[in-house]
Amino acid sequence: MLTPGDPARLEAVIGVTAPVLQSGMGGVAGPELVAAVSNAGGLGILAALNLRPDAVRSAISKVRQLTERPFGVNIWLHDDVRTPPDVMEHSDLVRSVQSVLNELRPRFDLPATLEAPRPMPDLVDAALEVMIEERIPVFSAGLGIPEPELVDRFHEAGTRVVTMVATEADATSAVAQGSDVVIAQGLEAGGHRSHGRKLPAAEAVGTGTFTLIPQVVEAIDDRVPVVAAGGIVDGRGLAAATMLGAAGVLMGTRFVATTESQASQLWKDRLISGRGTTVLTDGFTGQWARVLRSEFTSHWAEHGGMPLPGLLQAAARADLQRAAVAADDDQMQPLYAGAGFDLLHDLPGAGDVVNSVVEEARQLLGR
Ligand SMILES: Cc1cc2nc3c(=O)[nH]c(=O)nc-3n(C[C@H](O)[C@H](O)[C@H](O)COP(=O)(O)O)c2cc1C
Repeated sequence: MLTPGDPARLEAVIGVTAPVLQSGMGGVAGPELVAAVSNAGGLGILAALNLRPDAVRSAISKVRQLTERPFGVNIWLHDDVRTPPDVMEHSDLVRSVQSVLNELRPRFDLPATLEAPRPMPDLVDAALEVMIEERIPVFSAGLGIPEPELVDRFHEAGTRVVTMVATEADATSAVAQGSDVVIAQGLEAGGHRSHGRKLPAAEAVGTGTFTLIPQVVEAIDDRVPVVAAGGIVDGRGLAAATMLGAAGVLMGTRFVATTESQASQLWKDRLISGRGTTVLTDGFTGQWARVLRSEFTSHWAEHGGMPLPGLLQAAARADLQRAAVAADDDQMQPLYAGAGFDLLHDLPGAGDVVNSVVEEARQLLGR
């Protein structure tokens, strides 16, 4: 029998007084956003993907200057990101991907190319070492499950481990391997699907948030708190997730559209405009992600085929990305968004988001 989730369980494990986690998000979740969420009693989470070790360390130190509350640091543990693939082994794929991208380059007067992208640096393990040395309060893993040795090292450093999964089976593995909290990511989630390896399209789609939460709650049988993620933007979402057995929620898209987020004004404006719809694509980075549908996503769906592995697809597209950002072009860059984006109508401070989500849920649940 399912019982409503208890936010006190989350407080006991990760020290939050509000059961609201803000997702680590590259290019969005810097120290100001993280501190604003943590200062409001939630858990702000820094994004460390693609950061060099000194940048991870200085971001952690900046957060510590801005808050004394617990915070987290997130990184992907995806097989092909932790050990980046060798681009030289994919020369045929490079040519086919670049040919498709060449059809888009004239939009920004960029020259056509069939060149291989620069190899991706190997940064994940170095970032993990910094997190362990810094004895961060919470380690947040996405796109892969931390192995028991890594979990043990974090635990020895006094760090709690929070792991995001998109299937019941991965939730069970994460708990068996020592994670202290499981985040159940439903298909509505903005950004990348939380799988540790690339899945075929049909499997990558996943399970809806409100189907997945009770499945995960039952599968892990109360051993650790479960947090719900995907399409949740307000107190109604927190209340509903609580009734399904979640001890709290993790939100990404809602926090993209806040004053402290480092997202561009273009992205924030699109999120609160209500215009458009979201799709899953692997054309931007090589991994499946939910974004606002655009001319790029339609072009890739029609002509794209297989992308480059790991994050090499993002590297192959780097010139297009730079040009799209410089031109404020919303059709050729990934505007990550969860399916709940069209419920967003404002750009509040992140602390106000935490307070209003908790207050609305409290009223709905009569607590
Ligand atoms: C802009 C953006 C960037 C994200 N970056 C990361 C990331 O670096 N690491 C990670 O584990 N999850 C990342 N996510 C996924 C979130 O952890 C989470 O599953 C999702 O945001 C929840 O759905 P919502 O966006 O509808 O709230 C990102 C999401 C967004 C919207």
